[in-house]
Amino acid sequence: MNPLTKGFEGIISPDSVEANLLKKLDPIRLPQHIAIIMDGNGRWARIRKLPRIQGHRAGVKSVKSVIEYAARLTIPVLTLYAFSSENWKRPEHEVNTLWRLLRQYLRSDLVTLQQNNIRFNTIGRISELPSTVQKQLAHVIQETSSNTGMKLFLALNYSGRTELVDVFNKLLKSRNDFPIEAFDIESCLYTAGLPDPDLLVRTGGEMRISNFLLWQIAYSEIYVTDVLWPDFGGLHLLKAVHE
Ligand code: FPP
Repeated sequence: MNPLTKGFEGIISPDSVEANLLKKLDPIRLPQHIAIIMDGNGRWARIRKLPRIQGHRAGVKSVKSVIEYAARLTIPVLTLYAFSSENWKRPEHEVNTLWRLLRQYLRSDLVTLQQNNIRFNTIGRISELPSTVQKQLAHVIQETSSNTGMKLFLALNYSGRTELVDVFNKLLKSRNDFPIEAFDIESCLYTAGLPDPDLLVRTGGEMRISNFLLWQIAYSEIYVTDVLWPDFGGLHLLKAVHE
């Protein structure tokens, strides 16, 4: 039996499309780090004549199912772009709703993270987030810190350029010998110690990087799908990995 199908025993039927795709995957060539730009919540809502925040609400369901699916697939690292530094420019009501949805998620899904042995963490300028969000993030990070399975990172108040600014300032403060080398920069990234993403997935069809993991995606495969984030699920992730 392909070891990858093990995590799905009793969940998918043995002759389904999913089971066939799983069988075709080579466990040795599985991505070590998948990064996802979750886009299309607003369009998903607009098509249904719903307020944008209903799109984000539906997007949380995809967040949950993709996290669980990636853990079953034994992906070592998953990074989700949940809130970019540019997202502060959105209407206050929308921004507040995103923080509320995140707080709800952290409250309701700590148990799922534990059950799936997932270690939770964040990247981005977390100290600029509302203090209630920061507290809840710290709690989930602490509670899952001894889990040994998939590492899950939420990129929050994240911008690739800001990350590099933070790296250079850190280096300027801590060193007096120059020049710096690529590995010096790598050691100061928010993702220091993690493998670079070998697969970058973007939903919603736009061919853009949107300031995400600029240094780390130098060699990543890029997979863009027209599927809007609230419609994206485990099978879509599997197709991306397969391709
Ligand atoms: C992009 O859709 C998505 C976001 C700005 C936020 C992503 C947030 C979630 C999926 C929900 C909250 C997350 C967690 C982790 C609980 P868009 O609004 O830019 O869509 P559009 O391009 O169609 O307008």
